[in-house]
This record gives sequence, C-alpha cells and structure tokens, in this order.
Amino acid sequence: MPRAYSISVEDIAAERERVGGEVDDMNVANVIKLGTLELRDMGPGDVRLKILAVSAEHNVDHAALADTVNITESRGGKIYPGNSAVGEVVDVGADVTRFQKGDIAVTHCNGDPDEHGYPQRIWAYDTEDSVGWYAEEAVIGDWQLVHAPLSCGLNLWEIAALPLRAPTAHHLWRRAIGIYRLKVSRERRAVLNVLGFGGGVSELFLMLAKSEGHNAWLCSGNPERREALEKQGIAGIDQKQFNRFASRDDVRAFSREVRQLTNGEQMHIVCDMLRGPVFPAGFAVAARQGVNVSAGWQLSQVIEYNSTLASVKQVTLDHTHYETVVGCAAATELYGSVFKPTVHNEIYAFEDLPRAFEEMHQNTQTGIPIVRVADSMPTAANALIP
Ligand SMILES: NC(=O)c1ccc[n+]([C@@H]2O[C@H](COP(=O)([O-])OP(=O)(O)OC[C@H]3O[C@@H](n4cnc5c(N)ncnc54)[C@H](OP(=O)(O)O)[C@@H]3O)[C@@H](O)[C@H]2O)c1
Repeated sequence: MPRAYSISVEDIAAERERVGGEVDDMNVANVIKLGTLELRDMGPGDVRLKILAVSAEHNVDHAALADTVNITESRGGKIYPGNSAVGEVVDVGADVTRFQKGDIAVTHCNGDPDEHGYPQRIWAYDTEDSVGWYAEEAVIGDWQLVHAPLSCGLNLWEIAALPLRAPTAHHLWRRAIGIYRLKVSRERRAVLNVLGFGGGVSELFLMLAKSEGHNAWLCSGNPERREALEKQGIAGIDQKQFNRFASRDDVRAFSREVRQLTNGEQMHIVCDMLRGPVFPAGFAVAARQGVNVSAGWQLSQVIEYNSTLASVKQVTLDHTHYETVVGCAAATELYGSVFKPTVHNEIYAFEDLPRAFEEMHQNTQTGIPIVRVADSMPTAANALIP
C-alpha cells in the first residue's frame, strides 16, 4: 500500500487541546500525519499515477487548522489532502486514450465542474470522496490530468509549483482584464497598472499582466520574492514599509506611494488573495473603473467597503475560484513562457512534508514550497532536476 498523508478530526482536536484552543499557536506539522492508503480499484477511465513531486497549498493549512470551516469534519472525520502534483502514468484503464504508460502529467483540482465548467468543489478538499495526492501513488480519472509540458524550459520543481496556482492566476487574470475591458477599451487605454499582494498566485497573475505589456507591481513583505520578480520586470513594493497596513495612516501612506509610482493614476487592476488588512489598501489604490479580484481569504473571509465610493469610481470587486477544466489546460500552455515561478530554496523530502506546511504557515519560505515524493524518477523527469 502506498504511503499517504491524512488529516483527521482527532489530530486537529489533539493539537487544539495542546495549545489551549489558541489557533494561532497550533503547529500544522502535528496535524498532517503520514500513514498508508488503500487505493480504489482502477475503473476504465482511470489512470494510476506515481506521484513525483507536489507543492504545498494553503487549503491544507486551512484544513489542518480548521480556521475557516472544519472541512475534515464535514467530510466524515478524515481527509487525504493534496491537489497539486506532477506524476508518472504507470497504468491506464481500458477507455483511456489521452495517456499511456510512461507519460508525465500534472493534475488539476477542479473537482466538480458546473454547467459552464466552473468548479463547484475542489478535489481533495470539499469534493465528496476525493482522495488527494500527497501520496506515493494515486488512482485518478483521466479528465483530471494534463500532459506536463516537459520542454517548456522549467525544471521539475518549477513545473510542480504550478498545477494549482497557475490555473487560479489564469482565471483571475482573464476575469479581471475582461471586466476592465468591458469598461475601458484597449483603444482608449492600452497599458494598465496592475498590483498584486504577496504570494504565489499573485506573482503568477503579475507575470500574465507583464507578458501582455502592462505595468506590474508586487507588494510583498518578502525581499527574496520581490527580488525574483524584479528580474522579470515586475517592480517590488515593500509591504512591511507600510506595517502590513496595520493602521489607516499606513494605508494612506501606501496610497500616496502608489500615486507617485503611477503618476497619479493608481491601479487599474488589483489582485488580493489575502483580504484582512490588505483589502482596504488594495481598495484605496483602485483607479477609476478599477477591478479588484480575489480567489483567497487567507487573512479574513469578510470585507467591508464604501459602496458609494465604489459606485462613484466605477470600481468592480470580483470573486473567482479555480479555473474551468479547459482553462486549466490553457494555463498549462503558458508554463515557462509566461509562468516562471519562484520556488523555495529547500526541496523538502516526502517525510518532511509536515514541516513544509508549518514553514509555509510561519511565512518563512522564499518561494513556493515543493516536496519531492519519489526517490527514483523516470528518465524524462530526472533530466529536469537541477
Ligand atoms: N480559490 C482558489 O482556487 C485558490 C487557489 C490558490 C490559493 N488560494 C488561496 O489564496 C491565498 C494565497 O495563496 P497563495 O498560494 O498565493 O499563497 P502563498 O504562495 O503561500 O503566499 C501567501 C502569502 O501570504 C502573505 N502573508 C502571510 N502572512 C501575511 C500577513 N500577516 N499579512 C500580509 N500578508 C501575509 C505572504 O506575503 P509576503 O510576501 O508579503 O510575506 C505570502 O507570500 C490562500 O488563502 C489560498 O488558500 C485560493
């Protein structure tokens, strides 16, 4: 039986008890546990995947802390997390034509597309009976896989950084630019000012903006991330210089800085995956006809804003989630040419996955955290290991 990580209500409760109910003191490494998993039988449309590498994703942090909803409890007491992986196809069902043994594939996590392809649920999170990919092997419907673009110029860890974050950024960007263009045509204004707040998804969002010729800024508290993005022509703004927007004066100072950077125009598009104190800052720097787009709520699920002001400035707030299934394939086409992710400087061993999550939670990583799952790699993947 393959080894796999799980999160259980008992382990969440034990960790909560250890810290006297203080969620801020919880150590997610104590909650994510390694065990074994019996895989379901292969169906005709299934693929058996040997997992090569995965990236750590925030929904696992939310699941382990049970800080937004206790998803483990609603899923019956135990979940097997992991919805971003690169793997090798080791077996295919009788009806599978898109893949064959030996192919390298990336996963997507749109777990339950609605009639227009938008995800109603996310695989290995709230999709019923879904089993995730923080495991040595998995059985997956072939519709959940996209061929890995092995010659895109990225290394294996960079490819592993993208299956969840790149489609999210792709969806955010096509929605944001589409909404802005509904209001202001390219003929009237070709080059836009685009701002993203720290984090892997926002970085990728800014890479899309930059690749289409727009001005892009990353407002992050992490100097390594800002430096990496500056090499791609995306300017950095130090969020800590504005005390991470702890007070209204900090937001005012940030707004003054952005006015200066943009010759008084402010930001036409803002990507805010964090909310909490970041939201008022992003809202304050919205240009007229601006769009503020989000698929995350890392610091708070609730936002408050002045509706009159938003109307007068014609500002649109848009809430998105993960990409459609076909959109995931489109996002994968942009690996390497547009998406050049920053990867954390340690590649974690499979056994160290819980520590990777705790360090992600502590916000001490220099880029997207990657976990190497397979010791022995197929030749095509091995060639991409730096
Ligand atoms: N709906 C979806 O499909 C979807 C997909 C992916 C992610 N998400 C959600 O979006 C959020 C961000 O995801 P991600 O993958 O971009 O995250 P990530 O790469 O792990 O980055 C998280 C960022 O949060 C920032 N941060 C941490 N603590 C902060 C604080 N106290 N104040 C301000 N900033 C702080 C850090 O920015 P600094 O650089 O400034 O330190 C860090 O870079 C998560 O909540 C995640 O669950 C949603």
